Amino acid sequence: MRRDSQPLTEDRLRMAEIVPAAAGPTFASDVRRGLSAEPKVLLPRYFYDALGSRLFEAICELPEYYLTRAEAEILERHAAEMAAALNSPVRLVELGSGDGRKTRLLIEALVARQGHLLYLPIDVSSSALEQGAERLLHVFPELTVTAFVADYQAGLRALRNEPAAPGYRTLTLFLGSTIGNLDPAERVALLREIRGVLRTGDALLLGVDLRKGASVLLPAYDDALGVTAAFNLNLLVRINRELGGAFDLAAFRHRARWNGELGRIEMHLESRREQTVPIRDLGLEVRFAAGETIHTESSYKLEAAQVAEMAAEGGFSLRKTWTDRGGRFAANLLIGS
Ligand code: AVJ
Repeated sequence: MRRDSQPLTEDRLRMAEIVPAAAGPTFASDVRRGLSAEPKVLLPRYFYDALGSRLFEAICELPEYYLTRAEAEILERHAAEMAAALNSPVRLVELGSGDGRKTRLLIEALVARQGHLLYLPIDVSSSALEQGAERLLHVFPELTVTAFVADYQAGLRALRNEPAAPGYRTLTLFLGSTIGNLDPAERVALLREIRGVLRTGDALLLGVDLRKGASVLLPAYDDALGVTAAFNLNLLVRINRELGGAFDLAAFRHRARWNGELGRIEMHLESRREQTVPIRDLGLEVRFAAGETIHTESSYKLEAAQVAEMAAEGGFSLRKTWTDRGGRFAANLLIGS
């Protein structure tokens, strides 16, 4: 078919409506719980408001933050091999729509092999989904998109009603080491949920940041320009704006720590002095001792053996691992067993 005879992009895009299962936690309820807890904690998913998403994109450009470039290098070199690994036509599911650039490399390789492709991204941000899908639809006339505005759990549940066409396998992407935010038990639980919507022989391509020295890890999470500090402190900006908080940003500092025992980088917001911060909409006064921290993120760094172990516990077998030339990052092909 001639490229310009393909249907318009809007005819190839479906935004699937997800009805949330129940009244789950909200930003307000999670902030209340986290700042009343001992030690204090906030969830990393709340980094990604409009400004936070832009700051994360900026982080990906930093010289110290190697993860994005290392993973892109792997996909640039091996996308064709990845696309051929299942030995049959596939549809492509993605958890978190990411920056689109890495996804594009795989879509290109799949379209080259099978001539057409159904892409099903799942993301909480409808604007990110729509923009990402529109861009891809313009680049690939052979592409059809069904997008799910939902968190991973709800999106995966919705996927159960969208079985793959006969003769097709499902390839699921979970890139960027996003799984690194999860504790060991949580990441196995998520792998099982993913496995639950796949059939035996279907695949998950999982991006994982590998264990390495603190001299490389710490600067990646505490860069000289201060972008990661701004990304972390933006949580307080968001509480001030959305919940009527009264955080004085100058009274907190960004901290990155390597926790060798648990194999993870931790990000904290540290109170520079003793203080009490009211959060109007929660009717809450939060007391901080000098030096007390809010734990805002954990970013696990795995050994290769842990990847295989996690795969097995999640109901997959590890078929193949590709790493970047620096051996910093791993893209792992897991097959549902
Ligand atoms: C998007 C979760 C993979 O943990 O490296 C970047 C987020 N935090 N800098 C990571 C992040 C601080 C990032 N992930």
